[in-house]
Amino acid sequence: MKVFVPRDAAARSVRADEVAERIAAVAAGADVDVVRNGSRGMLWLEPLVEVETAEGRVGYGPVAPEDIDGLVAAGMLTGGARSEGAYLGLVDELPWMKRQQRLTFARVGVVDPRSADDFAQYEGNQGLKQALTMSPADVVEEVVNSGLRGRGGAGFPTGIKWRTVLGAESDLKFVCCNADEGDSGTFADRMLIEGDPFALIEGMTIAAYAVGATEGYVYLRSEYPDAIETLNAAIVTARERGWLGPNILGSELSFDLHVRVGAGAYICGEETSMLESLEGKRGMVRAKPPIPALEGLFGRPTVVNNVLSLATVPTILANGAAAYAAYGMGRSLGTNVFQLGGNVARGGIVETAFGITLGELVQELGGGAASGRPVRAVQVGGPLGAYLPVEQFDLPMDYESFAAAGAMVGHGGIVVFDETVDMAAMARFAFEFCAEESCGKCTPCRVGAVRGVETIDRITAGVDRDKNLVLLDDLCDLMTDGSLCAMGGLTPLPVRSAVRHFGEDFQA
Ligand code: NAI
Ligand code: SF4
Repeated sequence: MKVFVPRDAAARSVRADEVAERIAAVAAGADVDVVRNGSRGMLWLEPLVEVETAEGRVGYGPVAPEDIDGLVAAGMLTGGARSEGAYLGLVDELPWMKRQQRLTFARVGVVDPRSADDFAQYEGNQGLKQALTMSPADVVEEVVNSGLRGRGGAGFPTGIKWRTVLGAESDLKFVCCNADEGDSGTFADRMLIEGDPFALIEGMTIAAYAVGATEGYVYLRSEYPDAIETLNAAIVTARERGWLGPNILGSELSFDLHVRVGAGAYICGEETSMLESLEGKRGMVRAKPPIPALEGLFGRPTVVNNVLSLATVPTILANGAAAYAAYGMGRSLGTNVFQLGGNVARGGIVETAFGITLGELVQELGGGAASGRPVRAVQVGGPLGAYLPVEQFDLPMDYESFAAAGAMVGHGGIVVFDETVDMAAMARFAFEFCAEESCGKCTPCRVGAVRGVETIDRITAGVDRDKNLVLLDDLCDLMTDGSLCAMGGLTPLPVRSAVRHFGEDFQA
């Protein structure tokens, strides 16, 4: 019988390793196989132990190592212990799971991420096999027709990016995965890599076939040691299985993959900075054009996609573009992996079709603030995303609706704040963050961020408040229009939204 205890970093941070060890010790001699799966994404329930039963997988959580002896004595390993406080019932039937449509995250939390057999058993490589029966141009068109847009934040159509790379003449092309998930409140890339690394490898291999690339790199942040280890192990296994290297799955396709570890600079998540860093240089932003699709890594045509974009491609190829495009709304098709964090009662991963409202995510799924106080604001899309008040909770999660509201979906991270938040301090933090992380290449960002901190300090100190609010607005215009990349260009978004929606916090 299988018992699942996540090896995901979030679960390990709350003693999942000790829980797994204790179960193995207590069950010694019995027919119990402790499997280290990824996390189901219900982070408030970690460590979440699942026991295989005739009806399905039954969950217990959160479980401390000290609870194990009692739970086992009460019959946890025989499908019992149902009156224990930690007993949750069938995991797939929990309201949090039932509300979701898991396509990109279909295997995360279900399989052992290090097991190639598990991957193969749960439809692994079906997308790649299908792609290999098609011409590269048809694979590109399938991705275009699915409506998939870049999940890193900008929402550029993935298939159109691939079309540009396919059409570029070169004897060498690359596929680069941006796994430098630097946005505060985002963790979906990490959980995907830790929970289903073969999906990313499959997605990158399909991309390589579609555009004619032979080499790939995953730029993975050093802050994710577990993800680095898991992905490196999966790459070794994939090579052994013939899923990477020459003649992949017996075809003509040759493609290999390498992990490169970042060094903690937020700006290396900007694609051209990432390419500089991959080339061994300091992470400085390059001017665009040329776009990386034409002149990317070492000046060659390069696909640069986020982890989630690439890991979604296999399901699109396996089940068809139309099946994927049937989800979502408007021009935001398919599903997105939203991440609930900050002061939220139930934080974690929610993969659902675009169109769910912000309020449904925060209040219904997230359960409001962890503090029990009323929610006052949420920041959507990382530190460069807008702050939204509760009055805007009926906004659907959709790229265009958010843009119209002066906000952005970004990488799908939602950070919750309760009524005690000081929004002037949050606006100041946006400038501080920009000053800290700016690469320094252009003046509006390098100098503007510092001036922004000073201006907010004058406003909150009551020095020429009205004059300084006008100056702040002017500075925001300058940064938006004059910055070379999104770092300086988007910093005004959180600042302006804080002033617009929470003006009362900007009093002396
Ligand atoms: P962008 O709009 O300049 O470009 C989006 C993508 O489309 C890029 O890969 C670009 O090279 C590509 N592209 C544009 N025109 C193209 C064409 N004609 N053919 C092929 N490809 C083309 O946006 P940028 O600056 O790359 O990203 C900004 C976004 O990054 C922000 O909206 C923010 O949400 C997000 N972000 C995400 C972070 C994370 O941790 N995931 C961190 C910081 C920002
Ligand atoms: Fe560098 Fe900031 Fe200019 Fe981007 S906006 S190029 S991070 S200085």
